[in-house]
Amino acid sequence: MGGRAFSFQAPLLWNQLPVWIRETDTLSTFKVRVGFWFSDKKRRRMNLDAFVQFCADRGVEVVEIDLTQPLGPQGPFDIIIHKLSDVIVEAEHNSQSQQLLDNFQSYVSAHPDTILLDPLPAMTQLLDRFASCQKMSQLNSSLRDWHICTPPYLEVHSGSDAIKIQMLTHKHILFFSPQVCKTRVAHGSYSHEMCLLFSAASLADIHPPCVLQSFVNHGAVLYKVYVVGDKHCCVERPSIKNFPSGPCDRKTIFFNSHQVSKPESNSDLTSLDEQMVALPPPSSDAVAALVKELRAQLGLALFGVDVIVNISTHTLTVIDINIFPGYEGMPQFFSSLLSHIQSVLDQHASAGSS
Ligand SMILES: Nc1ncnc2c1ncn2[C@@H]1O[C@H](COP(=O)(O)OP(=O)(O)O)[C@@H](O)[C@H]1O
Ligand SMILES: [Mg+2]
Repeated sequence: MGGRAFSFQAPLLWNQLPVWIRETDTLSTFKVRVGFWFSDKKRRRMNLDAFVQFCADRGVEVVEIDLTQPLGPQGPFDIIIHKLSDVIVEAEHNSQSQQLLDNFQSYVSAHPDTILLDPLPAMTQLLDRFASCQKMSQLNSSLRDWHICTPPYLEVHSGSDAIKIQMLTHKHILFFSPQVCKTRVAHGSYSHEMCLLFSAASLADIHPPCVLQSFVNHGAVLYKVYVVGDKHCCVERPSIKNFPSGPCDRKTIFFNSHQVSKPESNSDLTSLDEQMVALPPPSSDAVAALVKELRAQLGLALFGVDVIVNISTHTLTVIDINIFPGYEGMPQFFSSLLSHIQSVLDQHASAGSS
């Protein structure tokens, strides 16, 4: 009985309230309003309707933003979560998408109190594989002590770059090892169309602009690391089998990345040709160090990293970074996202009151 009395429960509940609620002076500000914008596909994958309900049950209103309508009357928003990648990529060649993006950006600039999770420039850098490979390559020095690295890569801007690489290989100035060819644009269905090249002659098969990333044998196991603010989790997925390391006259293998690293992926490309002892998964300390470094370097809170373990050196190798990934397989994703939203609002309120 004593434990349920007001004198006991009220201070307890009060102490558990986020700082920004305790420090507010009007009752109306008690209701947090989160705006969101996702593509239909992302909405479904994330089960956004369930997230909206999850938040409503906890006193947080989550409302969908209609980019085609003026944003002012749709607000105010305490925070906006979004995955505008489609719009950002389309805006490059579509004036309607550019208009939607401009409207969105003007709203954000005119409302400095609305927090944008995550900032557009930080996201935009990951839509270009030249830029994201560059970011990943910084890990080679910053995380050397953790034996974390990223494979060497070449930017291929045009057909003439591909011919130069071919010539340098013939002259033995470049040594050709198997390469994964990835489109420069890292978003949209075409960006998942890739190929594996086994000789310099096969460079005739690529369509620049693209990235050639050295293929690393990893025993057909990939780890997807999902990050939500200061929480992360690591899930195992199938991946591409091992190949002999030098050049060979094997034909180019074209594949769609969705066919190799989904939970259900199972094909010739993902079944090992040889027996091998499974390597231990990456240590949780190394993954935590990687996440911490990337959060600081990218300025993002919601992202995913694909890592593999090199079967020869056991080095943790970062091959891909994704903005606001699917989070399939991350337990407690909803509560992690909501608690991140609340902690960002707390920090914002404390920064404003100090
Ligand atoms: N450098 C690499 N070495 C070995 N396998 C790779 C490498 N890069 C990509 N892969 C394989 O190809 C898949 C797709 O590559 P990724 O860069 O993650 O593309 P996407 O953006 O489509 O996720 C990975 O999940 C992994 O199985
Ligand atoms: Mg990937």
